[in-house]
Amino acid sequence: MSGDIEQTIKEPAAVSRDLIAREVARRRTFGIISHPDAGKTTLTEKLLLFSGAIQLAGAVKARKSGRHATSDFLEIEKQRGISVASSVMQFEYRDHVVNLLDTPGHQDFSEDTYRVLTAVDSALMVIDAAKGVEAQTIKLLDVCRMRDTPILTFMNKMDREVRDPLELLDEVESVLKIQCAPVTWPLGMGKTFRGVYHLLRDEILLFTPGEERADGEVEVIKGIANPILAERFPLEIEQLKMEVELVHGASHPFDLQAFLAGKQTPVFFGSAINNFGVREILNALLEWAPAPRERDATVRAVSPTEPKFSGFVFKIQANMDANHRDRIAFLRVCSGHFERGMKMKHLRIGKEIRVSSVVTFMASSRELVEEAFAGDIIGLPNHGNMQIGDTFSEGEALQYTGIPYFAPDHFQTVRIRNPLKVKQLHKGLQQLGEEGAVQVFKPADGGDLILGAVGMLQFDVVASRLAGEYGVDAMFEGSAVNTARWVTCDDAKIFADFQRALSHNLAIDAAGNLAYLAPNKVNLNLTQERWPKVVFHTTREHA
Ligand code: G4P
Repeated sequence: MSGDIEQTIKEPAAVSRDLIAREVARRRTFGIISHPDAGKTTLTEKLLLFSGAIQLAGAVKARKSGRHATSDFLEIEKQRGISVASSVMQFEYRDHVVNLLDTPGHQDFSEDTYRVLTAVDSALMVIDAAKGVEAQTIKLLDVCRMRDTPILTFMNKMDREVRDPLELLDEVESVLKIQCAPVTWPLGMGKTFRGVYHLLRDEILLFTPGEERADGEVEVIKGIANPILAERFPLEIEQLKMEVELVHGASHPFDLQAFLAGKQTPVFFGSAINNFGVREILNALLEWAPAPRERDATVRAVSPTEPKFSGFVFKIQANMDANHRDRIAFLRVCSGHFERGMKMKHLRIGKEIRVSSVVTFMASSRELVEEAFAGDIIGLPNHGNMQIGDTFSEGEALQYTGIPYFAPDHFQTVRIRNPLKVKQLHKGLQQLGEEGAVQVFKPADGGDLILGAVGMLQFDVVASRLAGEYGVDAMFEGSAVNTARWVTCDDAKIFADFQRALSHNLAIDAAGNLAYLAPNKVNLNLTQERWPKVVFHTTREHA
């Protein structure tokens, strides 16, 4: 613990309410949601280049390709060390402080990906316009919907042969159940992609192919009726006029309140790789996306502009430095002002701590943070005493709510080669379960422990951490479990009957909650029908 706590006493300087209100108002904290290969990494890099946070194209990209090499233990260590720099990227743009939280995809996809979305105030959905709505986007949007998070949409890769734009909007509306309000509309596509028409400003932004402009300067032609357009793009402009008429008739005009309520998404078309359309997205984020808002806690709702500091942990990253068993708890500041060296209360264990080596995440590196405001993310180094969902405050006993665990999609049973290590196995899995690295289910009738995860990479990480930190050589095998639901029931007698009748399908998770493990969806549906008084939950909140 000694490393966590600074000995010298430092009283926080008084910070006025006005200053806090100003700082909160200029913050935007968001994440990008997309299916792998839609262009999230490319767009992230362009956003950073645009804001001047990085100078060199390729920096983010290089990290990404480095991440997918192999998955042996050392590699995972190394990858995690690298990927932390990109977990949270803070940059300034037009007098705003933007916090971009990474939502890992590909084989990195895990519960973290979901939970990161509990820490953002808005999300940017990137869709590959040639492919439309894909599986991972649907899942991520469902998570955003739990908190009615406002969503901006970027239809990417317009420089390719893509699908009909109207059809794309239809698909978003019907599959994702969110209204679309096009803000820009494409002029052609693929080889004849000429740019976009800004529906609100009545301007054409011209696309210059093959150019990677860091400053994002584009030629603008005012007015869709401007004769210059008919001269330069006679074919495309006729098509555009027809489409715009259709769009005005058939789609919804942008409505800020509907967007803020998570009911409508403004849609932009562009090409991330050509840095086209990126500025419009960034401006929309600043102008329309919300600054940090009030958050629910157990005892009351907390306003971001309250002077007292509070926040919650939404992600734990372990083993960032192979020489020290350190972990970093990522904390979303929800209210007040954080200053390095200040005292804060770790409410779950009821202890006051003074964290000195707090880090923030500038776009390029980990740096020591001096201060932070609501909306910012700070990293608290610790040795395992912080868990997902933990709340920190200046003393008030409150617990932020809405930080969920998700019913896993993948299951494995775990066994060990050396039976003498069973204690270490249980201890390791208990801790990894509490930390949120994986979900651990102990069957009610005994037998091998069952691990549940939302992404397969979680199993690799658990195996390497069991070996490295607990000296346990664990074997993972496929499990007969296909899906899980946490179960509760208001009627104690019915619940006792349920538990007796189905004990072979029941298990206890790391936090002591009862879960029903089903071999398939049909079994789950039948059980739900047979036990109508029992509630089957797809998520559970941090205990
Ligand atoms: P991800 O993080 O969402 O997985 O996607 P990423 O940015 O890595 O982009 C996936 C692929 O799509 C990359 O090609 C990238 O260059 C390409 N891409 C991104 N934006 C655009 C765009 O606006 N237009 C076109 N035509 N392509 C785009 P790759 O071949 O996988 O990688 P690379 O060889 O280009 O690095």
